[in-house]
Amino acid sequence: MAISRLLVQNFRNIAQTDLEFESKFNFIVGNNGSGKTSLLEAVYYLAHGRSFKSAVSNRIISYEQPHFLLHCKVQEYQHQWSIGLQKFRQGNTIFKINGEEANKLSQLTHLLPMQIITPEGLNLLNGGPIYRRAFLDWGLFHHNNAFYPAWSNLNRLLKQRNAALQQVSDYNQLLIWDKELVKIAHQVTSWRAEYVESLRSEIERTCALFLPELHISLTFYQGWEKETNYGDILKRNFQRDKAVGYTMSGTQKADLRFRCNGLPAEDVLSRGQLKLLMCALRLAQGEHLMTQKNRHCIFLIDDFASELDPSKRELLAHRLQQSQSQVFITAITNDQLIQMQPKNHRTFYVKEGRID
Ligand SMILES: Nc1ncnc2c1ncn2[C@@H]1O[C@H](COP(=O)(O)OP(=O)(O)OP(=O)(O)O)[C@@H](O)[C@H]1O
Ligand SMILES: [Mg+2]
Repeated sequence: MAISRLLVQNFRNIAQTDLEFESKFNFIVGNNGSGKTSLLEAVYYLAHGRSFKSAVSNRIISYEQPHFLLHCKVQEYQHQWSIGLQKFRQGNTIFKINGEEANKLSQLTHLLPMQIITPEGLNLLNGGPIYRRAFLDWGLFHHNNAFYPAWSNLNRLLKQRNAALQQVSDYNQLLIWDKELVKIAHQVTSWRAEYVESLRSEIERTCALFLPELHISLTFYQGWEKETNYGDILKRNFQRDKAVGYTMSGTQKADLRFRCNGLPAEDVLSRGQLKLLMCALRLAQGEHLMTQKNRHCIFLIDDFASELDPSKRELLAHRLQQSQSQVFITAITNDQLIQMQPKNHRTFYVKEGRID
């Protein structure tokens, strides 16, 4: 899968640009504040209907403009399609797939599997469990069509249960919500556990390549005590949940824990090692999608060179080349990309929002 063409209008400091991309490596080079991350953000926005930087979309629309517009052409094997997205200051969004208005943002995400590696992305390792659940659920979303509806249902039921907790005095009054919740929670958990197991060897292989001096292990925490029925946990914790006003155990607490030589990875790894581990996880996940589903994901890598010494940059470059994926990489100067000279690449120079 590759984006062959991208049109951007009024997106941050990019007033207007129309670019043709290379199907493998695209380098985006420019000074601080020139618009490199904004270009990646535009690509990401097309695949998710949201930014990886700002929760408030109005801040992304170029100052004093009424809306931004993004359009891209995508090629996957013999198939081609186009995606257009327009976001207005009033808050409404229009997006179209092959010219037809679509209504679910998840359709975009399904069409364009994407992995993003940014300096802030270290929160995958040193941030809260929410980031690792997002990592896990990314894989499930792309591997299993039944996952997303089940996951949405689960979130809805959980919200309803939390609201009901305030109203009821006896646990039996909650049973009506819990029966359904327990069923879906067990299903989602077993999918998550299966996914972790199927991904494990790919992660171990990539970690051994990137961090050969360390032994990295991972464990999946389902969100409540192992080998226990979730229904029993909900019943047992009723008074506690009621006192705090929300359900304290469940799939919404699931986590993936990474350890290095037996200790929490985030406590012992250096920043460069953390970045390499984060890259290893994202590359392994992309590779796994390829081997299992025959789909290449697109990699967006912001500030490629930071934290990495030349030998590690080379390792990462080599692994990205092997992945055969389309890659967008930002750097401040060409020198930072010296370890990465693949055959098929194109360099875009960004200056004050203009891209050549
Ligand atoms: N809504 C907006 N309208 C116009 N300009 C904006 C808007 N939001 C941000 N900017 C500006 O866009 C510019 C591009 O920022 P961007 O983060 O893309 O730079 P960058 O090239 O990635 O820089 P760095 O190397 O420092 O990471 C910045 O100068 C920023 O102030
Ligand atoms: Mg930047």
